[in-house]
Amino acid sequence: MAVLLLMPSRDTSDLAAALARLEPGLDVRVWPKVGDAAAIEVAVCWSHPPGSLLDLPRLRAILSYGAGVDHLLGDPRLPEGVPIARFVDPGLARDMAEYVLTAVLAHRRGIPRYLEQQRTRTWDPHPYRPAGTALVLGLGRMGLAAARLLAAVGLEVRGWSRTPHEHEGLTCFTSEDGLAQGLAGADHVICLLPLTPATEGMLGRSLLARMAPGSQLVNAGRGRHLDEQALLEALDAGRPAAAWLDVFADEPLPGDHPFWTHPAITITPHVASLTDPAAVAAQVVECLHRVRSGELPGNLVDPVQGY
Ligand code: GLV
Repeated sequence: MAVLLLMPSRDTSDLAAALARLEPGLDVRVWPKVGDAAAIEVAVCWSHPPGSLLDLPRLRAILSYGAGVDHLLGDPRLPEGVPIARFVDPGLARDMAEYVLTAVLAHRRGIPRYLEQQRTRTWDPHPYRPAGTALVLGLGRMGLAAARLLAAVGLEVRGWSRTPHEHEGLTCFTSEDGLAQGLAGADHVICLLPLTPATEGMLGRSLLARMAPGSQLVNAGRGRHLDEQALLEALDAGRPAAAWLDVFADEPLPGDHPFWTHPAITITPHVASLTDPAAVAAQVVECLHRVRSGELPGNLVDPVQGY
């Protein structure tokens, strides 16, 4: 019985080493060296080639190497009836919250402008913005962790999610009307939504036009949440005034993409929150034990909802 690491774009050595430490003797295979495909019980995936999971006849669970599962659910040829689980880790949520706080404070204190000024040896101090209001789109584990950290440093925090939520200290909205209320006067709009057919393109013309003058958009969800052309036009109109982006429709972001040189855009290369291979290894081992005793894996994904 074996685990398959099916992550063609990733280095699997740390995960393989962590699995060997946790469960000595575990048979770990790294795609494309699958060997006897009937031995594979669990596949750990990131951007697997569509259809490749169909080659594993005795697969009992599919685990995402990250929090997002859009890379899995986008495969129209998934094996039927095999449960899909995502990676859940308090460290992942904490790191995401820290990233969002960094982006928000950088905008508030005008840091991108000072980095630019340093290039031209310009000494030009500016007053900074008051703490302000943030709207967090998506109140899953990442969104909630970010919302709580922003509230802890004194921002007024609103949250928007597809299903109604209630959280102490946050004003929670749902539905299209709620989105309009959440956006009204928000200084920071932060996207931490899962990517599903319902959220794809949500950061489009209509939403951007309702952002406040001087505000900031932060996208650490998925690139396809954002209509990139609409953002360029919205920045020209000053609503929002700035964007801080970690994810892009095409990754790596192509060298000739206009975002690279846009003065109002800050780019990070999909590093907001990085999966810890040791934490994944622990979940893989737990999942193996569960499926071997006839249970479902934890952190199950609902393929219909898309997260
Ligand atoms: C990263 O993007 C993840 O989904 O964990």
